Amino acid sequence: MSKSAFQELLANTRRLTVLTGAGVSAESGIPTFRGAGGLWRTYQATELSSPQTWNRDPGLLWEFYNYWRGSMRDKKPNPAHYALAEIEKRFRKDNRLFHLITQNIDDLHLEAGSQSVTRMHGSLWLLRCCQCSLVTKNQDIPITPAFEGSGSPDPKAKQSKFSKEDLPKCYCGGILRPHVVWFGESLALEDMEKSHEASRECDLFLVVGTSALVYPAAGLSTIAKRSGAKVVVVNLEPTATDEVSDFNFPGKAGEILPDLLMVN
Ligand code: OAD
Repeated sequence: MSKSAFQELLANTRRLTVLTGAGVSAESGIPTFRGAGGLWRTYQATELSSPQTWNRDPGLLWEFYNYWRGSMRDKKPNPAHYALAEIEKRFRKDNRLFHLITQNIDDLHLEAGSQSVTRMHGSLWLLRCCQCSLVTKNQDIPITPAFEGSGSPDPKAKQSKFSKEDLPKCYCGGILRPHVVWFGESLALEDMEKSHEASRECDLFLVVGTSALVYPAAGLSTIAKRSGAKVVVVNLEPTATDEVSDFNFPGKAGEILPDLLMVN
């Protein structure tokens, strides 16, 4: 599909749904999960984010998240985030439907101004109490004074030991964990339902910067396709979504999207 054919399709779209992954934030300087920067010490970032690690060593998990939050603190949205926020604004103005589903936990879509957003995997800046389940916003770095200066990603870094007293606590006294969906955990039901609905009920499904390897997000393109939507992919590399996509725009999201969506 040529750019102009896509733009004609976009102009005739009543319901646009966008699915994003780590690639949309790559140009903000945030490493992707399966790219070269997805390691912390000797661990894959993905293997650390698990209930098993939490149950075995919550201090280690908090040390990693404390580092991760610190490295994200000064990251800013890039032109891809802003293009998606702008196209949403235009759709709203024309009474057309727009929804953004993101697997990213960096909140950069919100910072760029996107409003109709499902954060499938939670947020790095939300914490959840393991006792009362209260979810609160928290941007403290370090997460508690005990974590000051800890968390070096160097594989030779000495691993600190944290006790239960060092961990962040809720008002009720329970221990707080990142409000992030870890491997082996289920998505929140309302996020799951909203993502399915937005994928089922759209005319155009735009997939940006995801390897489409992690379910259930990876299955959304198929839902959209089976429901009659055109599926369009923007990615640096070929991905599993290509099997169902109608069109691909290879390249960097921050360079392609503003032009493709005509918001520059
Ligand atoms: P991945 O790291 O698996 O994939 C990133 C994708 O972005 C790859 O397909 C890259 O080719 C592409 N990419 C990189 N830079 C890009 C750029 N500038 N423009 C466009 N595309 C680019 O990340 P995700 O697919 O998001 O889950 O990973 C899905 C989930 O796996 C994450 O949400 C996380 C992880 O485990 C949880 O934390 C639960």
